[in-house]
Amino acid sequence: MKKQLLLLLTALFIGFGSNAQVKSAETNVLVLIYSQNGGTYKMAKSIAEGIQEYPNAKAIIKRIPSINSKEKLNADVEKLPIATIDELANYDGIAFGSPVHFANISADMSYFFGQSIPLWTSRALEGKPTTVFMSAGSGAGKEAAILSFWNILASHGMVIVPTGIMGTATLDKTIPQGNTPFGATSLAGSVGTRPSAGELNLAKEQGKALARAAFGLKNTETIKAAKTTSIEAKSDINKTLRDNNITLPEAPKPVGNYVPFTISDHKVYINQVALKDGKILNPGKVGATVTDDQAKEATYQTMLNVIAVLKEACGGDLNKVKQCVQLTGYFNTIPEYTQHAALMNSASNLTALVFGEKGKHARATIGAASLPINSAVEIQAIFEIE
Ligand SMILES: Cc1cc2nc3c(=O)[nH]c(=O)nc-3n(C[C@H](O)[C@H](O)[C@H](O)COP(=O)(O)O)c2cc1C
Repeated sequence: MKKQLLLLLTALFIGFGSNAQVKSAETNVLVLIYSQNGGTYKMAKSIAEGIQEYPNAKAIIKRIPSINSKEKLNADVEKLPIATIDELANYDGIAFGSPVHFANISADMSYFFGQSIPLWTSRALEGKPTTVFMSAGSGAGKEAAILSFWNILASHGMVIVPTGIMGTATLDKTIPQGNTPFGATSLAGSVGTRPSAGELNLAKEQGKALARAAFGLKNTETIKAAKTTSIEAKSDINKTLRDNNITLPEAPKPVGNYVPFTISDHKVYINQVALKDGKILNPGKVGATVTDDQAKEATYQTMLNVIAVLKEACGGDLNKVKQCVQLTGYFNTIPEYTQHAALMNSASNLTALVFGEKGKHARATIGAASLPINSAVEIQAIFEIE
């Protein structure tokens, strides 16, 4: 009987052991803030502490760039690494922190999310756990501010982790506190040391709750990915396109003595501009008549055209693609322009979304004085096919 029990325990242990491989991978959580005077940063440190208390969870605190690059920030905040919008897709969970500005999120945070269109359209943040904490003055409008942040995160399809009544049992209720059921806040303008011990404790609990959600969902993703790989050794690009609501346009026709693609030694060579329905989408010069967001939209459209031509080159079956070898993005910009890489990310993200591992590519981005038919962008692509 004892021996049978031992065998059962060993089997259970081995069973857990195979799962443990999935569970032992670190859960990476970003704590991303805007903070001018350091109040939000103090809360961020407790959020990070709570995240790190969760087994195998790792927190990193970063800040967003200020709209005004010359803005004077709190010295500790100034030293934080700056996050780019595209890196949000790389974390298992994200806690966002902002000061309450006129019962809303700060303009800087709002501006940062204004650059998230490519992440939004490629659904890169969908299903990712997130939570919001804030620093207020008197606390006026703090809950409205968190909920206005939630609107953005819900639009991205993120899984929002609220705080409910966590941490309230031990709050000192003789002083005003920043607890809300939506997320922790600090009443920085109130009497006493702020954030209060209770507010910091609530932030810690919130961090832990986010890490738990991030851990759970990350493993679901891992298991799903493992199953997909074993069941369908070969991914179906058509299903990926359908699942992500991506409709390929008709492949643009050549307007000169050339062909839309050539194939040499299993490599397909394609060049496209931002044609949409026979017209150039958002034409003009980036940094002058074309905004960054418009250029990103044009870049996304150009990459859709590239993939449409690629489909023709594959005889209609994109599953024949073995690798995206290289993408080169040319942008029609003013001479001082420097954000080419951020524009090109909308093409790279789309390629990664559609082709997965096979979408990983080398890349170059170049500024041009002008481009054909006043397109803001031109992409040269090289793919390897079967
Ligand atoms: C433009 C502006 C608007 C603000 N609006 C509010 C507000 O509506 N409610 C509030 O409680 N505090 C408000 N505050 C105060 C900040 O939320 C508070 O100082 C916060 O702690 C700043 O965070 P930080 O130290 O991370 O920069 C406002 C501050 C500024 C600069």
